Amino acid sequence: MSRKIAIIGSSNIDLIMQVPKFPAAGETVSGGVFTQTFGGKGANQAVAASRAGGDVIFVTCLGTDHFAELIMERFEEDGIDTTTIFQDSGVSTGTAMIMVDQNGENIIAVAPGANFRLNERHLAKASLVLTKVEVVLLQGELHPDMLKHVLRWCAETGKKVLLNMAPAQHLEAEYLKDVNLLLVNETEAEILINRPVKGIDQAKQAGEELSQLVKGGVIVSLGENGSYVVTKDLKEIIPAFKVKAVDTTAAGDVYCGTLATALVEGMEPKEAVRFASAAAAISVTRLGAQPSIPHRKEIEVFLSDNS
Ligand code: ATP
Ligand code: RIB
Repeated sequence: MSRKIAIIGSSNIDLIMQVPKFPAAGETVSGGVFTQTFGGKGANQAVAASRAGGDVIFVTCLGTDHFAELIMERFEEDGIDTTTIFQDSGVSTGTAMIMVDQNGENIIAVAPGANFRLNERHLAKASLVLTKVEVVLLQGELHPDMLKHVLRWCAETGKKVLLNMAPAQHLEAEYLKDVNLLLVNETEAEILINRPVKGIDQAKQAGEELSQLVKGGVIVSLGENGSYVVTKDLKEIIPAFKVKAVDTTAAGDVYCGTLATALVEGMEPKEAVRFASAAAAISVTRLGAQPSIPHRKEIEVFLSDNS
């Protein structure tokens, strides 16, 4: 039986508008194209881990609205264990408003809604199912109190923690010290170390500095420039694959979810990062978060075509 991965995090409905250009404050830009789809960093990572072949348990909280029904159906189609998906009435399911311009860049505003209702009681209810889990993948879209609670729980129960600090939250050293792998982009690294991180040299410095704060390794992702990996045995930029980006939304989520599956399977760090980079590269060639996430077969074909 494959080893299980738990993802504890957010689920959103993504309301995407492709626009000719981003409007400035007070400006109206017409000519957009609208798509409604599934997102949320936790959910995207759960779907990515599952499509890459992982045995995934997802812990999240939805509202009781129509969006929640749609999201639940989507998870079932993706083969995700939904027994730990909670619902809270009186609050909307998480929602993200996303604009994507002609270069594939995005701007995103999130209303956490039910995601911020996920709490200690839910984790206690899920704990029996989570006993079989070896690795827990977390993101910064959890409520800050819940993120700390989950990190404490992981330390107490001996789970390996992969923390994608996106969006970045301030976190005291006592919580970071038990993290096995910290994953951040340049902006998030900047917030964690409290000084600018621009370009590859500063990203390397940031990665090395952050690695002093955690138990395991650090990855600083650099978009089309790849990712800088710092572990006990490795300090290396793993390049990204060259593709034509249509929409980079969720590239980081696809990378994290796919990487979790690869590491739990026992791939060596460098091979796992290449596998995750391939999945993320495929995802940026398509619109949307979850619709863009590749299945394992596609990742393998991409890797063999690009080796
Ligand atoms: P996002 O916030 O858009 O989800 P992120 O900022 O967390 O993403 P990035 O550093 O942009 O994360 O991307 C994560 C990984 O995805 C990169 O390390 C790279 O491997 C891959 N990637 C991202 N953008 C591109 C691109 N334009 N072309 C190829 N690969 C990409
Ligand atoms: O990382 C991309 C995700 O961020 C989107 O799917 C959106 O829901 C926001 O949470």
